[in-house]
Amino acid sequence: MSATIMYGKDVAEDIRNSLYQEVEELKKEGIKPGLVVVIVGNDKASKTYVRMKEKAAINSGMFSKVIEKDESLSEEELLNTIHSLNNDNSIHGILVQLPLPDHIDEQKVLESIDPSKDVDGFHPINIGRLMVGEETFVPCTPYGIIKMLEHHKIPIEGKHAVIIGRSNIVGKPMGQLLLNRDATVTYCHSKTAHLRQFTKQADILIVAIGKAHVIGAEDVKEGSAIFDVGNSFTEDGKVLGDVDYDRVVSRVNYITPVPKGIGPMTITMLLHNTVHAAKSISK
Ligand code: GUN
Repeated sequence: MSATIMYGKDVAEDIRNSLYQEVEELKKEGIKPGLVVVIVGNDKASKTYVRMKEKAAINSGMFSKVIEKDESLSEEELLNTIHSLNNDNSIHGILVQLPLPDHIDEQKVLESIDPSKDVDGFHPINIGRLMVGEETFVPCTPYGIIKMLEHHKIPIEGKHAVIIGRSNIVGKPMGQLLLNRDATVTYCHSKTAHLRQFTKQADILIVAIGKAHVIGAEDVKEGSAIFDVGNSFTEDGKVLGDVDYDRVVSRVNYITPVPKGIGPMTITMLLHNTVHAAKSISK
């Protein structure tokens, strides 16, 4: 069996080209979409991601800025920063990079973001809209996976989608998006007993558990589509997915590599959400 290797870059390029055009149109109306990313602390990987987000937004013709805060920042100071961004008309999208230091209540911070600028789609109002099937900001990684499914014309309706991982960032919204498209959805997680029993039934398998190579050849259904959200770094700096790609690739019809799979889509959907925010604010 020869699998289609799904590179996020191929799908992302198409979307970024059309976003660039949309940004140009908005600029003619005097609106330059603006994205601010706030990062607290010194986590090296988070800093790299945040710079990539800023660069991608600038390359798409938007305004973008990273606000870097010291690890010792108080919760109140962070809430004040968000409050002023909420009131800044030149800013359409606000993203607070997670995780935050332990002394800051993450949920309180996410709930302080104006839902109309919540380009991560993490505010409970936007999560609620997703649950009831209303149009809203959709969390970027699951949204990117939906775009990849659509691009490769992989059927969703009536299919069994199994999601490993129940984070608010990926697993939970992923399941809801697939359910909204008439998949039968099973959530698995670190406490699931007999995991293989579920993964082997999956027509679409989304793995977002953050443990290198936990899914092997015996765990997947033949002919299925595999999306690997894993990003574990080895000591020598290599990136590994949650799926043992080399062993799985010959058994499935579609698979994302790590790196170069889903990663480029996450940032692209953030750009999409920021343009959408600028458009709705200006209406
Ligand atoms: N940390 C890891 N992924 C994400 C994401 O998609 N958004 C935010 N805000 N933080 C993250």
